Amino acid sequence: MSQTNIESMLDEKRVFEPPFARRDNAHVRSMEQYRELCSRADEDPEGFWAERAVKLLDWFRPFDSVLDADMQQADIRWFSGGRLNVAYNCIDRHLTRGRRNKAAIIWQGEPEEDVRVYTYQMLHDEVCRFAAVLRSLGVKKGDRVSLYMPMIPELAFAMLACTRIGAVHSVVFAGFSAVSLQNRIQDCEAKVLVTADAVLRAGRRIPLKNNVDEALRQCPSVEKCIVVRRAGVDIPMEAGRDLWWDELAADPELDAVCPCEEMESEDPLFILYTSGSTGRPKGVVHTTGGYLTYAAHTTQWVFDLQDDDVYWCTADAGWITGHSYIVYGPLALGGTSLMFEGVPTWPSPDRFWHIVQKFRVNIFYTAPTVVRSLMREGVEWTQKHDLSSLRVLGSVGEPINPEAWMWYHNYIGGGKLPIVDTWWQTETGGIMISALPYATPLKPGSATFPLPGIDAAVVDAEGNAVEANQGGYLVVRRPWPGMLRGVYGDPERFRQTYFERFAGMYESGDGARVDEDGYIWVMGRLDDVINVSGHRMGTAEVESALVAHPAVAEAAVVGMPHAVKGESIYAYVTLAADEDESEELRAELRTWVRKEIGPIATPEVIQFADGLPKTRSGKIMRRILRKIASGETSEFGDTSTLSDPGVITDLIDGRLELT
Ligand code: WTA
Repeated sequence: MSQTNIESMLDEKRVFEPPFARRDNAHVRSMEQYRELCSRADEDPEGFWAERAVKLLDWFRPFDSVLDADMQQADIRWFSGGRLNVAYNCIDRHLTRGRRNKAAIIWQGEPEEDVRVYTYQMLHDEVCRFAAVLRSLGVKKGDRVSLYMPMIPELAFAMLACTRIGAVHSVVFAGFSAVSLQNRIQDCEAKVLVTADAVLRAGRRIPLKNNVDEALRQCPSVEKCIVVRRAGVDIPMEAGRDLWWDELAADPELDAVCPCEEMESEDPLFILYTSGSTGRPKGVVHTTGGYLTYAAHTTQWVFDLQDDDVYWCTADAGWITGHSYIVYGPLALGGTSLMFEGVPTWPSPDRFWHIVQKFRVNIFYTAPTVVRSLMREGVEWTQKHDLSSLRVLGSVGEPINPEAWMWYHNYIGGGKLPIVDTWWQTETGGIMISALPYATPLKPGSATFPLPGIDAAVVDAEGNAVEANQGGYLVVRRPWPGMLRGVYGDPERFRQTYFERFAGMYESGDGARVDEDGYIWVMGRLDDVINVSGHRMGTAEVESALVAHPAVAEAAVVGMPHAVKGESIYAYVTLAADEDESEELRAELRTWVRKEIGPIATPEVIQFADGLPKTRSGKIMRRILRKIASGETSEFGDTSTLSDPGVITDLIDGRLELT
């Protein structure tokens, strides 16, 4: 986050009271009620979570114990002995409880006229059909299925179909490259891949299946590839491997009666890859009972989802936000979830507001980067539309700077709607720190308080809680049902990454401070992870992509403050001895990284450097590189360990030449 943002947050003093008018039927109605729930959860955490699990979900078999956990050993189990099925909870049970004809998913395609509405009954039929297709292809309980798809309803169907038969899905964001897809498929050894011919994006058709063909050249585990016809482009289909979704689903021989597999609470539900500070992305594993309880619980309390709401989360289902808050949370509650295929600025920068008006959206959940980019387009775009249906606004992905918060509040919220700034991570499964819309007084830029039952704290290097307004490590000191249960195939990495530094606590990797009123202000990552438009990118990943190019000898990547994206990628590159710096090479390296990882990893700036600042033991001093990238020319702190202090001046000169 930029220095100016941090400063503006440090002197942010405004407080906005929650709306009083509508709170009578809210799930949590006041700060007193919030505090009562917190005390109840602190006194008896297991009782608290057991009650939520039983209230929110249907269990085929009740659980025998609530929690068996040893955080130090990275061994966490919730609701052992309990059996349930996610598709049953998200679909089947609603059919007999008055929601059969209720819209489960409202899908707005990128073309304005492409709208599909699926009632719970229709969703049931689609999901059963596809589950039967997967089963007919030999997919069994525990098998992995990778999904590499645009934001089309079939993505939700495929996720739910997997859960129905107990297969473990692994969604790979469609913006990732063939190489990234390949790495993820290889890591989880998926048996089936589901994809589409192409993605519609800002009026263009972006091919997808060709990435798949490239990726599958080295994915021996994949037996079948199922392709949705989305864009109607001609694509090669490999005989024996590639199959069309519509043909499979229409097969008259298909036995589309597909009962729900009874899953153990701790059976894996999905794997989702996310970037860390070292090595390749890790496959975060979530399990069945705890995750679904937590997704439903947080959707209900944080968004105050009511039965007649139209709820819209603008994330892509390829990220955890889409998993928990487009698909699992809202559907478990029998809600109506809007799913949008397009982008906020196409065909014009009022696309979101147009959709809000068109479907009378009540709850709207987006990212600060979206707010900032739409803010730049001017308020006139917001004023063309009737936004009066809205009642709760949400934010996720990075700290929301007070300026964007105020714009969101004033122009989208008409100066009166609560904004829930929700802090959480792929690993946490659901929201951890957030205001409750009808209870919490808000401070722009603060995620406010931990949810009841969540023991989040800011601690020093020894694990002791810090004083008010002192920065520290954001940790969670008690297990919660939605927490990750592993890093796929790597228990040691799981333990080391999250549970090693602070004994008995979960380490988030974020820095934060708590102010004198107990409000938490998340400051961003403390590790080598860059947050680009709310997407996590490991510096190590981008570096290894760069050094894989023959012209590159060495690369160091850091985050640089960016007005819209929050942070962008700044790469320092040392070339191989016989290579010359040139604009062509710079462009080539950008294209190279896009191809290796995906467009979100494209370096904003590439600075060629003769040398990098290193300690005498050869460690790159990123702290200095971050400062230079953000335009600082002095105050580098202690540089006495540098082996060659001269590199700093050279790097500053190089930086100035670039701007
Ligand atoms: C950041 C996305 C401040 C944080 C749900 C975290 C936030 C990372 C917020 C997780 C917020 C997310 N305020 N920072 N409201 N929400 N972050 O795994 O650095 O894609 O560690 O999960 O995003 O990103 P992830």
